Amino acid sequence: MKALLCTAWGGPDALAMGELPSPAPGSGEILIGVRACGLNFADTLMIQGKYQERPDFPFSPGLEVSGEVLETGVGVDEFAPGDRVIALCGHGGLAERVVVASGNAVRLPEGMDFVTAAGFAVVYGTAHVGLERRARLQAGEVLLVHGAAGGVGLAAVEVGRRMGATVIATCSSEEKMALAKAHGAQHAINYREENFRDRVKELTDGRGADVIFDPVGGEVFDQSMRCINWEGRILVIGFASGTISELPVNLTLVKNMSVVGVYWGAYRKQNSAVLQQSWQQLLAWLDEGALTPHISATYALAEAPVALTSLMERRATGKVVVTIV
Ligand SMILES: NC(=O)c1ccc[n+]([C@@H]2O[C@H](COP(=O)([O-])OP(=O)(O)OC[C@H]3O[C@@H](n4cnc5c(N)ncnc54)[C@H](OP(=O)(O)O)[C@@H]3O)[C@@H](O)[C@H]2O)c1
Repeated sequence: MKALLCTAWGGPDALAMGELPSPAPGSGEILIGVRACGLNFADTLMIQGKYQERPDFPFSPGLEVSGEVLETGVGVDEFAPGDRVIALCGHGGLAERVVVASGNAVRLPEGMDFVTAAGFAVVYGTAHVGLERRARLQAGEVLLVHGAAGGVGLAAVEVGRRMGATVIATCSSEEKMALAKAHGAQHAINYREENFRDRVKELTDGRGADVIFDPVGGEVFDQSMRCINWEGRILVIGFASGTISELPVNLTLVKNMSVVGVYWGAYRKQNSAVLQQSWQQLLAWLDEGALTPHISATYALAEAPVALTSLMERRATGKVVVTIV
């Protein structure tokens, strides 16, 4: 089968089209004919050897796909060949076929196209599990979302709004601010031009945000600790800035604040029921029109390196999706 291959740690330019043997589903697994693969910042880290998981070479990046079930392994009753699914594969999604554990796949709702589906699970799942399960966001609270026009950030804006929060978005350009507002943020701050910490205090009568969703890290995390409310929660989502902050733990005590880690993908192995429940809630919200996935660009498989570069260069908004067939 055709696949985009990573054969050594490096940037997107080091990836090349190649052939891999078609995988076969083992017990409890399904083989999927991939129709589209959603790209994530994590893919850019994985090909550089900077991600938590470092697969053996050669491998294809791509951790979320949509497609059709081609074959089921022993003991799989919930899927049959021909079913349209979304699946989490860890890596291997930028290929014509991929095998996943059946617990890591869900059926596509009627009317959801493969491109939208391929970009849905990771960002909305992370936003929902992060905000509801980890931060216990309550209606009426103030939610501050950083990198709010990016994949996971834009999803957090929509999910937070649906949960009844007042959403403040931070982004690096006017265009990104407009996008975040169009997806539900009541306020937007350009953190390249304004000190977001002061502005958040201003918008909250000096109290600060109750929950902060931070996929950026570095200086953004450091400043977030200075504009969080009493009993606030900061969700550590990622480090798109490339810097991992040090935490002065005395600050957590002074404000009774919590710094809460979120590794959504870990639920795939630790407790996939959490993902399935979250998925049902998100689909219900999609159905009622509360979620409006934003796919900013689609690329063919051979052009996936260009797509990954757009993520690394901070040009992409919402989701970028690669179509396979
Ligand atoms: N914990 C989890 O389970 C989980 C799940 C999904 C994603 N993540 C993490 O969340 C982060 C964002 O992922 P994503 O897929 O949403 O990425 P993305 O679509 O590329 O968005 C990242 C956003 O971060 C901001 N940013 C700030 N500094 C940046 C830099 N130096 N390079 C690139 N972007 C920068 C950009 O917004 P501005 O230009 O507006 O600043 C950009 O829109 C990544 O670290 C990823 O690993 C974690």
